[in-house]
Amino acid sequence: PKTNTFNLVLKKVNLAPDGFTRIMSTINGQYPGPTIEVNKGDRIVMNIRNELEDPTSIHAHGIFQKGTPWFDGVPGQTQCEIPSDYEFTYNFTVPDQVGTYWYHSHDLMQYVDGIVGALIIHDPDDPYKAEYDEEILVMLTDYHHTEAQILLNSFLTPERDVPDNGLINGKNNYDCSKAPPGSTCVDNAGLAKFEFVSNKRYRLRIINTSAFSAFFFSIDKHVMEVIEVEGTYTKRNKIHRLPINVGQRYSVIVTADQSVDNYIMRSEFQKKCMPDGAISLPVVTAIVHYDGAPEDSVPKDIPWTDFLEECIDLIPETLQPLYEEKVPEATREIIHEIAFHKDSLGIDKAFINGSTYVPNLISSTLTKVFEGTTANLPASENAFTFNTFGEVVDIYFINTDEGEHPIHMHGHQFWLLGIGNGTVVDKTALNTVNPIKRDTSTIPISGWSALRFVVDNPGVWGHHCHMWHMQVGLVMQLIELPDEINKLSPPEEWAELCQLKRY
Ligand code: C2O
Repeated sequence: PKTNTFNLVLKKVNLAPDGFTRIMSTINGQYPGPTIEVNKGDRIVMNIRNELEDPTSIHAHGIFQKGTPWFDGVPGQTQCEIPSDYEFTYNFTVPDQVGTYWYHSHDLMQYVDGIVGALIIHDPDDPYKAEYDEEILVMLTDYHHTEAQILLNSFLTPERDVPDNGLINGKNNYDCSKAPPGSTCVDNAGLAKFEFVSNKRYRLRIINTSAFSAFFFSIDKHVMEVIEVEGTYTKRNKIHRLPINVGQRYSVIVTADQSVDNYIMRSEFQKKCMPDGAISLPVVTAIVHYDGAPEDSVPKDIPWTDFLEECIDLIPETLQPLYEEKVPEATREIIHEIAFHKDSLGIDKAFINGSTYVPNLISSTLTKVFEGTTANLPASENAFTFNTFGEVVDIYFINTDEGEHPIHMHGHQFWLLGIGNGTVVDKTALNTVNPIKRDTSTIPISGWSALRFVVDNPGVWGHHCHMWHMQVGLVMQLIELPDEINKLSPPEEWAELCQLKRY
């Protein structure tokens, strides 16, 4: 195993990903940030230098942090924020994980302003290694011209904000006639371009880093074969359009088997789960250019037209694990009911079992575990404690809301046993034979989902909606094996974060 060191300077700079200039929060001045690429078993060292003039924190999305729960990067849960003008080092290994991940700020909505990057863990034993020649990274996102914290205030209002645009690998065009007067904007900033060579086979790693948009991803005329979801190899399955929600990742194999030409890659907003104003948003596009094709001819418009239901994940039939494993029986069942309504101050909030999460930013739950004071956590910390190693837990989400929610679990992958409509989990419909294991899955609109996981990773793990909803309380914390946590010794630098001068 190798140690891979990444020096990451977070700072605000003026950028114009789609031609519209705005201040973005960046990693090393670029957007998206640099890709962290390592091999299975390697050590990842991320030296963060915070020049944002705001506090921050960095989370490696999907990484288990076994034995290093203090490096999970969630303010109020696993650490205190990194103040501005401070440096902090995240240092962890990835002993048993491979696949497609990402890293991002977990502080407020900073990632929406640009603190995101891909995190790829290569697998020396990749069963599909002989099936593709090259890898291509495809990062999808919705894109907002206004700073995320400002948008947040209007997010739950009836005239909710819609994205200004979407990007593929940080690029797109924008119609500057829509920009407010006085802004700096150029038309035709340019699309992302992917180079294909005839007959070569590509593994596309696709990551949705949006603030709240689910997409259908596709390439005109090209069939995709899903082989990985969030670190789990899947059976090869041919599809034309891939639904991908916030925080989710897939690998697909695409063969350059069409005639030498230019083709449209598209990321279509799933508008059924977006505010009404989203109706006019165009399809986000990029160009697939075959070697030998004219450089700038406009590709023909030949979209796949297969019908797919919006606002739900790829159906289980097309997402089966390559390696079957025996799923243990659950011994504990937890029901989480999600609802949106006003809190006692009249502010719209998200509630889980009647409680809305409020982060405690002057300490962290993990700190409290080390201090032995988690017994006194207020209800607003939405904490659930698991004391038994090996306990198998089912979590049923019941969603009474008229929106879907991409729920991400830290510290684990879970088996997705099923999803359905209505507010009662249909236990006869649960799949315990070959469910897929992943870390981010969508609860349908007015529906339910059922997850199973094993208590085996000491730490405090966030479990939350990956949309803006995490900023209005749709967050839980799983306090896992506090006795085991107490046998670990966190680094001094981590403990000191809570003592540093705050801004
Ligand atoms: Cu991608 Cu809790 O995060």
